[in-house]
Amino acid sequence: MLLKEKILSKKAKVCIIGLGYVGLPEAVAAANAGFRVFGFDLDKTKVNNVNRGKLYISDIEEQDFKRVIRSGALSATTDPRILSEADVICVAVPTPFNVYKEPDLSYVLKATEFIAKNSRKGQLVILESTTYPGTTREVMLPVLKKKEMKPGRDFFLAFSPERIDPGNSDFHTTNTPKVAGGITPRCTEMVKLFYSQFIIKVIPVSSPEVAELTKLLENIFRNVNIALVNELMLLCDRMKINIWEVVEAAKTKPFGFMSFMPGPGVGGHCIPVDPVYLSWKAKEFDFHTRFIELAAEVNSNMPYYVVSKVNALLRKKSPEDSTVLVLGVAFKKGISDMRNSPSLKIMDLMQKEGFDVLYNDPYVPSTSLREHGGGKIYRSSKLTSKLLRSADCVVVVTDHPDYDYEWIARHAKCILDTRNALKGVKGCRDKIVRL
Ligand SMILES: NC(=O)c1ccc[n+]([C@@H]2O[C@H](COP(=O)([O-])OP(=O)(O)OC[C@H]3O[C@@H](n4cnc5c(N)ncnc54)[C@H](O)[C@@H]3O)[C@@H](O)[C@H]2O)c1
Repeated sequence: MLLKEKILSKKAKVCIIGLGYVGLPEAVAAANAGFRVFGFDLDKTKVNNVNRGKLYISDIEEQDFKRVIRSGALSATTDPRILSEADVICVAVPTPFNVYKEPDLSYVLKATEFIAKNSRKGQLVILESTTYPGTTREVMLPVLKKKEMKPGRDFFLAFSPERIDPGNSDFHTTNTPKVAGGITPRCTEMVKLFYSQFIIKVIPVSSPEVAELTKLLENIFRNVNIALVNELMLLCDRMKINIWEVVEAAKTKPFGFMSFMPGPGVGGHCIPVDPVYLSWKAKEFDFHTRFIELAAEVNSNMPYYVVSKVNALLRKKSPEDSTVLVLGVAFKKGISDMRNSPSLKIMDLMQKEGFDVLYNDPYVPSTSLREHGGGKIYRSSKLTSKLLRSADCVVVVTDHPDYDYEWIARHAKCILDTRNALKGVKGCRDKIVRL
């Protein structure tokens, strides 16, 4: 049977490499659409959890997940030989940066080697991990291309970026349009056909490079605009103008303006990381991506600014005699993901200054500052009125919707609000300081 027919009849077997924030929702969506889906991950715990029907990603509907596990439409394995059975392979492995802030493609490369070892004619391979333009063609294709195998004829290769937004209840895998570009027009045709089976709209583009850069543009756009509003916030602080009110007012323009909010810095696996991929690649072309570098400079300074504000608020008290309670360590509200979270940097800086640092996060029971050189394990403190009263300063870093901000304001001595989360709080204005 030709791949096209297999996809249309849902007889194509799908393998998702990497069962994380991107891979698992997609695996569930494809299985729900009628495909037999295998998840392949090197992490035994994730594989066991999937096979036992234990959901570990909050954005997936539990009933959808349970249904496909129960029916046998989705199962997981740590054995790469499963790849030889697959007709369609989606690669959703991490693309972090290394200590020198250079792209680390080792996960993509390893996944590609697994595919090459188990490849056969007629397979469609789609890279979904965010990366610089050229990765699919320059890094994956040479590994996958065997002598007698021609892309677009014997196998199909494409790039299609993932756009999931953790914590967003309106948009998820199936109702978010997906961009895709193949190595050849036939590759693009195949990738479009596959995603069209379970995604509302597929936008074909002329090459993997266009698709790769599309994703980077989307995230760099956010990064640069956040930096712009962060810089304006620093100016507003000096000018004694309320930046939050300015942004709210600008938002009333019905065209030509898109709002971004200031904050304690950027976090997650995308916004701080993806721009680095492009600026690294640009150097190969003797090109300096100045907007990206400037945005990184402004945004990475924000945690330092937050700590300087805490110091200013505690004016007469020395750090050694001060307890600071951080509310929220996840990088954004309503989720548990802490990767590159500004909270971790803020906690690390405060700990180094000698503050007694405590935190509460309803989504994150414990954390360590290992990434920042500190090995101490922090456990989320129970949020009680006593705890709030005992802290010299409460810093709201993540504006989780679970918090009762009125109650927090009533009991805390002093609050630094880095997200304007307490904007609706009526009383206690004298003890709330906005970023
Ligand atoms: N998390 C997001 O919101 C988001 C959104 C859009 C795009 N992305 C991009 O998608 C990619 C994946 O991100 P994520 O957040 O899902 O990562 P993740 O860390 O949650 O999941 C990746 C999974 O891949 C597995 N893995 C790593 N190497 C492997 C290999 N060689 N073989 C098999 N499994 C392997 C890991 O064990 C892990 O379970 C990244 O490039 C990221 O930038 C992420």
